[in-house]
Amino acid sequence: MKNVVLIGFMGVGKGSVARAMMQHSKMMVLDTDDIIESLENRTVKKIFADKGEEYFRTLERKIGRWLRKEVTGTIISTGGGFFKVPALKKIGTVVLLNASFEAIHERIIMHPNGAKKLKKRPLFADIEKAKALYNERQQQYLKVADMVIDVTDKEIDVIAKEILKKVKK
Ligand code: S3P
Repeated sequence: MKNVVLIGFMGVGKGSVARAMMQHSKMMVLDTDDIIESLENRTVKKIFADKGEEYFRTLERKIGRWLRKEVTGTIISTGGGFFKVPALKKIGTVVLLNASFEAIHERIIMHPNGAKKLKKRPLFADIEKAKALYNERQQQYLKVADMVIDVTDKEIDVIAKEILKKVKK
């Protein structure tokens, strides 16, 4: 069974959707940011602060190579910039979770842990810059995706089931 690789902008709900997919299937979940944090024994925020973004991207590529070689039948939740690793499609079926920047921002700030969620994401520190990054990436996300799921105003469980149904076809 192929992996399912969830991509999309920060805060769109990749982690929550991945966990819900696990509840509704026999697949397990891996999260690329979690693997990187374990590998480095520090948070993504700290990696950015100590070593810079390029170092973090090198780690993403390293995880990409490992996933491609060693992992099958797994739901892979990724950081918002992971889609740029080479040969992404060779890791699995690439599913883009898509929503407008405004909807994503609202989802984060409405969350009970919203402030914390914003704080741990260095690239969301400045909202104008985050919006520019969103605009820059939108076409790139669409280009690499095998499947696009509009997540606007949808329950996490509904999204999870929709993806599982589509990848089984
Ligand atoms: C990033 C997204 C973050 C994390 C890092 C960089 C990005 O993950 O990987 O801060 O480049 O969009 P989330 O998408 O889970 O916030």
